[in-house]
Amino acid sequence: MMKKKIVVAITGASGSIYAKLLLEKLQALHQQIQEVGVVMSDNARDVWKFELGNESYQDFPFKFYSKTDFWAPFASGSARFDTMIIVPCSMGTLGRIAGGISNDLTTRSADVILKERRKLILVARDTPLNLIHLRNMQTVTEAGGIICPAVPSFYSRPKTIEEVAMTVVNRIIDLTGLEHETYRWSGPEG
Ligand SMILES: Cc1cc2nc3c(=O)[nH]c(=O)nc-3n(C[C@H](O)[C@H](O)[C@H](O)COP(=O)(O)O)c2cc1C
Repeated sequence: MMKKKIVVAITGASGSIYAKLLLEKLQALHQQIQEVGVVMSDNARDVWKFELGNESYQDFPFKFYSKTDFWAPFASGSARFDTMIIVPCSMGTLGRIAGGISNDLTTRSADVILKERRKLILVARDTPLNLIHLRNMQTVTEAGGIICPAVPSFYSRPKTIEEVAMTVVNRIIDLTGLEHETYRWSGPEG
């Protein structure tokens, strides 16, 4: 199996826990992964600190890129990154991607992934949604992106906040095509 090259972009939407748990899971799946590049917005750092009470993103063994670093490998299609995950994805970032406004590394990389017909996963987070959000989601979907809303499920009967958040993270991992152990619904008796 070809090892994957993955970009993770973290924005300033609520839900830093999703980013943290995803980075942990990618770390655990390192045997299937060649490279993980991470880019965070300024708001992403602030919200992470506020919601999780730490700056533990600094502890991950991945290469972090400045949001203005257009020299990063995944800012070019020729670097052939397979997958980009934006987690959590703010409505602002969603709108800039839908509008083709590649004014930072996250939006440029999303633009590249779409033009190369590779996999773009937007873990969109806000509620309720206005018509602009919905239209932007439609535009990104029509361009080949995947909207994977940060909406947890409860049929696995999660007991902790982490288990609730993992129901979203496990769906993201499924979308990437990485092999992993996860709860799978097999009916009410299962
Ligand atoms: C604590 C906090 C929570 C936020 N939650 C959301 C959210 O869930 N969804 C959203 O679209 N924006 C949210 N925002 C606003 C975004 O951070 C803001 O629109 C920002 O400009 C997004 O830019 P970025 O995508 O470059 O991070 C939140 C801001 C703060 C301070």
